[in-house]
Amino acid sequence: MFRKTDEVKVLRDPVHGYIHVDYDVIWKLINSKWFQRLRRIRQLGGAHMVYHTADHTRFSHSLGVYEIVRRMVTEVPDIAGALDEREKITVMAAGLLHDIGHGPYSHAFEVITKCPHETYTCMIIEQDPEIRGILEQTAEGLSKDVADVIRHESSNPILPQIVSAQLDADRMDYLLRDAYFTGTKYGEFDLERILRVLRVRDGRIVVKESGVYAVENYIMARYHMYWQVYYHPIARSYENLIVSLFARLRDLEHEGKLPETVPVFEPLLKGRQLTLEEYFVLDEYACSYAFEMLRKAEDPVVGDLASRLLDRRLFDYMEASEENIGKVTELLKKAGLDPAYYLARDGVRQKPYEPYSKDAGNAIWVRMHGGNILEISYASNIVYSLVNGPQISDDRVFFPGEITGRQSA
Ligand code: NI
Repeated sequence: MFRKTDEVKVLRDPVHGYIHVDYDVIWKLINSKWFQRLRRIRQLGGAHMVYHTADHTRFSHSLGVYEIVRRMVTEVPDIAGALDEREKITVMAAGLLHDIGHGPYSHAFEVITKCPHETYTCMIIEQDPEIRGILEQTAEGLSKDVADVIRHESSNPILPQIVSAQLDADRMDYLLRDAYFTGTKYGEFDLERILRVLRVRDGRIVVKESGVYAVENYIMARYHMYWQVYYHPIARSYENLIVSLFARLRDLEHEGKLPETVPVFEPLLKGRQLTLEEYFVLDEYACSYAFEMLRKAEDPVVGDLASRLLDRRLFDYMEASEENIGKVTELLKKAGLDPAYYLARDGVRQKPYEPYSKDAGNAIWVRMHGGNILEISYASNIVYSLVNGPQISDDRVFFPGEITGRQSA
């Protein structure tokens, strides 16, 4: 028996109405210092530079993922029946903690640390004395079980399918939450309907044939959110500016000229893996303060890039053709700006659903009326077209708009 809270704790949430907590272990994890740190990390990297209300945090997203997992393991009869109480607690904790290792500015920071956030997530779950302690006091070996869900190494394959697969609690929460906080409607889909049509067959989660339309809608929501929000060129421009600033700081560090005002960045710039203590203090509040200090840096590139970030004077962008890149490089040289820091290039490509993978849990499976189980692109014309159609990509070059005489982005 696992300890319950004295009464069910409810946290108001604009996406789910309420987040319900009734296990002591979940309540303790929410109140840990690493989880509370997520209040200081925004959910979206640069998208708040496009959508001005998109300031929601990893804290609210993590609670939302937990709530969807909790509903899956209690309200979906097939899933509830397939898991014992310990497995339910394992997967609820994994949902809650899946982003605990996220750094500031979303994926831009992973480029700077050269380390995926999942590595830090598993380190925190298995090594931080507080988080590990809460889990181990609940059940011996629980911290490894929770990290195994995130590493997709669980002995029960249903657990990682609940938290991160193609139709999972993580994606369902971030689409709904990001749509709500950006004010875009594209990300909305019928979560209630999806929960009603989930089943378990042969050790994997499937949807009933009558649920195909709700899933099509979810996949389209993903497609639209990627192109309209996550891959918006202005969001990428902001993220590229952060990467450029750190590239300059790293070069100064190598030359022994790092401004003394930002000791918080020092371990990061030395290029080694950070300790958990060093990583902990790097939240967005610390970074904002450091950027403010760097605004007055002696180095003109650092001063300029830091001011651009704080004042939203973002780089402009064009299609990344060889001709455009040549033109921009020429103009930068004329303006006396180093392309190493003032020219960024990135390309994004995305398919809203990718069924091809060794991991069977990484596809969406449909149980047809007759009992056959099909991968969804064989049960839906819309999904078939998305999977087999051309992959859309967007390659851009980013640079200070002033050099072309245009206004900034
Ligand atoms: Ni997440």
